[in-house]
Amino acid sequence: MITIIGATGTIGRLTLSALLDQGVRVAAVTRDPHSELPAGAYRIVGDPGRPETLAGAIDGTQALLISPRAVGPALADLLELARRGGTRQAVLLSAATVAYPAGLAKFRAGFEAAELATAESGLEWTFLRSTDYAANALAWAGQVRAGDVVRGAYAAARTSTVHERDVAAVAARALTEPGHAGKSYILTGPESLSQADKVRLLGAATGRPLTFQELPPDDVRAGMLAAGLPEEVPDRLLGSLADYAREPGPTSDDVEKVLGRPALTFADWAAEHAAAFTGGAAFASGAAFTSGGAR
Ligand SMILES: NC(=O)c1ccc[n+]([C@@H]2O[C@H](COP(=O)([O-])OP(=O)(O)OC[C@H]3O[C@@H](n4cnc5c(N)ncnc54)[C@H](OP(=O)(O)O)[C@@H]3O)[C@@H](O)[C@H]2O)c1
Repeated sequence: MITIIGATGTIGRLTLSALLDQGVRVAAVTRDPHSELPAGAYRIVGDPGRPETLAGAIDGTQALLISPRAVGPALADLLELARRGGTRQAVLLSAATVAYPAGLAKFRAGFEAAELATAESGLEWTFLRSTDYAANALAWAGQVRAGDVVRGAYAAARTSTVHERDVAAVAARALTEPGHAGKSYILTGPESLSQADKVRLLGAATGRPLTFQELPPDDVRAGMLAAGLPEEVPDRLLGSLADYAREPGPTSDDVEKVLGRPALTFADWAAEHAAAFTGGAAFASGAAFTSGGAR
């Protein structure tokens, strides 16, 4: 049995489906007894941030996929619980910023602490250090549905956004194949794109002349706070975008090395998700101001 901690999140859900498609037995940890899970997934209700709620429930799991956000500071305790229950391996959803620092140090420190706790757990470990997930672009959906202009800070900020299906595919390999123990993979898309490039590609996918209009970062921050977002959201996003405007984020071929095929492109992602950017709904929220950067 493989257990996914954070199974209803973007990567957890896709990894769950990839493993089920391979015929692997998978358990999904969720705090919500009614969350939607794919048919065939075994539900474990508990809060990974309070490992005692999972006592006994994950015994017999051979490998864990872990979202640091779902576990928080309790990670060492959760890993110890798993180890005592017979778990031998952990795959951690980390961030490229650990190896290529960008943004505010306090956000990088959270991933560094999660990696350290995993490395010291006594389990075999694999770190998936991803750049920004393409799904972050969904934050622009409200603006795109309302008009042809996406407003945000740092038009020139460049990252090699990774398709979340590639992250899940690498996770599924690391959880089921030998040869990934002790490896840290930098997971990126194949090309470095500015925010303006990504908006243009969304335009191509939706058949719209979309453009990116740059706003002063302070205006973006004020808009996000006015929309009710906690301060850490603009801190995290604007901090990393400012750095990626100065120096592009990394581009790696680790996805291709692990999967044996080229990484998916942002254009692929945009074509698959075009429907989320059309449909005439009103401007959604201040969360739609900007994208990019590990969240
Ligand atoms: N977005 C990026 O660009 C990016 C890049 C690199 C790394 N990462 C990291 O990748 C990991 C996976 O991200 P993701 O977007 O797939 O999913 P996620 O945000 O980690 O969410 C996964 C699930 O965890 C549970 N969860 C969320 N917050 C929680 C909390 N405070 N306490 C307990 N459970 C919580 C929720 O499940 P239930 O409600 O079902 O319990 C949620 O559906 C995260 O650690 C993220 O920081 C993200």
